[in-house]
Amino acid sequence: MTTNHSQRTRVLTGITTTGTPHLGNYVGAIRPTVQASRNPTTQGFYFLADYHALIKCDDPARIQRSTLEIAASWIAAGLDPDGVMFYRQSDIPEIPELTWFLTCVTGKGMLNRAHAYKASVDKNNLAGNDPDADVTAGLFMYPVLMGADILMFKAHKVPVGRDQIQHIEMARDMASSFNHLYGEHLVLPEAVIEESVALLPGLDGRKMSKSYDNTIPLFASSAQLKKLISGIVTDSRAPGEAKDTEGSALFQIYQAFASAEETASLAKAYADGIGWGDAKQMLFERIDREVAPMRAKYEELINNPATVDAILLKGAAKARELATPFIKELRHAVGLRSLASAASSQGHAKTARAASPAFKQYREQDGQFYFKLVDPQGRVLLQSLGFGSPKDAGMAIVQLQQDDAKALAALGAQVTFGEGVSAALVAEALATLRAELAEKAKAKS
Ligand code: TRP
Repeated sequence: MTTNHSQRTRVLTGITTTGTPHLGNYVGAIRPTVQASRNPTTQGFYFLADYHALIKCDDPARIQRSTLEIAASWIAAGLDPDGVMFYRQSDIPEIPELTWFLTCVTGKGMLNRAHAYKASVDKNNLAGNDPDADVTAGLFMYPVLMGADILMFKAHKVPVGRDQIQHIEMARDMASSFNHLYGEHLVLPEAVIEESVALLPGLDGRKMSKSYDNTIPLFASSAQLKKLISGIVTDSRAPGEAKDTEGSALFQIYQAFASAEETASLAKAYADGIGWGDAKQMLFERIDREVAPMRAKYEELINNPATVDAILLKGAAKARELATPFIKELRHAVGLRSLASAASSQGHAKTARAASPAFKQYREQDGQFYFKLVDPQGRVLLQSLGFGSPKDAGMAIVQLQQDDAKALAALGAQVTFGEGVSAALVAEALATLRAELAEKAKAKS
């Protein structure tokens, strides 16, 4: 059983605790994740990212309330806390500790390029403000904290929205930098983008989102749900007139809850000129049918927050059975260790490298061997495709270091330049490496 456990694919995702779950969250994240969590070949890690919440929200009551609501929603929607790892980020002190280790191997330049930070800087520049006006170091460090969440539990797969792909790539980068310096400890994660899940429109027809103020709370009371649904935008066609399903928010929401036959029969009703009032009643009944049993469970949990606390603490204890020994291993690897223990030289010779370009070799889930050349800020200058063996990848690196022009020609499509990287930049980096190698050879002789 235990060996089996460690072989399962580890799927991990976090939910920032700043809001109240709405139908869009349910259809887009909660429902598919709860379903996926029952897959016996994977081990799920689902956690409440409350440290992340502090980056966006300085209202303590809201953080607390949102944590309770999100935890209760996931359990009410069928997540089995005993079958998965379900915990609160802030109950795992190993995560902030790992955040620091990663901070020390992450190029500041890479964080400068993170979308969320860059968006704030762009906005400030546009407004003629100081580029970093109102930008906290928390926002800047967001990707590192997220990297720690993922790397702490050696996650293989991280299901996220498109806007988060860059963060997963950064986590991979942090992991390979760490491994390069201190040995193979961290697992390189992969983003999983679920293309098939529905994007739910909100009350006004735009994507349902807190920032548009067009949401329907997942666990609104039956009466509230009915009232909110009556506010969904429709056109002005009268009962008896045929309606378009295309572009109808009401129809799309219905479809996200209904079976194929139910959807077909609503489509027919549209063609037959169903009145909007009747269509809304159908939608209300369909959603309420799915949500009502969960709502009862949700209310029970919300009214017993101590129960939810206990579930989360139990989850944290389980998660820490993995995190505590692992952080111990990492502390040892970086040199935070007993002074009496025999000094290991792992990493020792590499200390000077931090300021130079470097080749990083790694193995992907596809079993192939890859390398990339990164500059001291972590920017990717060259990226290889997969090689069949580590030796082949190593040979290519040696060739590049010896004579980059010739090697680049020989490697052809097997290597590509990083985004926006010029041939001159690559040549310069390789020249730096070459000079360093020569220096080292001289020191030895
Ligand atoms: N940043 C993620 C979001 O806003 C939430 C999150 C925090 C997360 N840590 C994570 C997601 C780790 C996946 C893995 O959606």
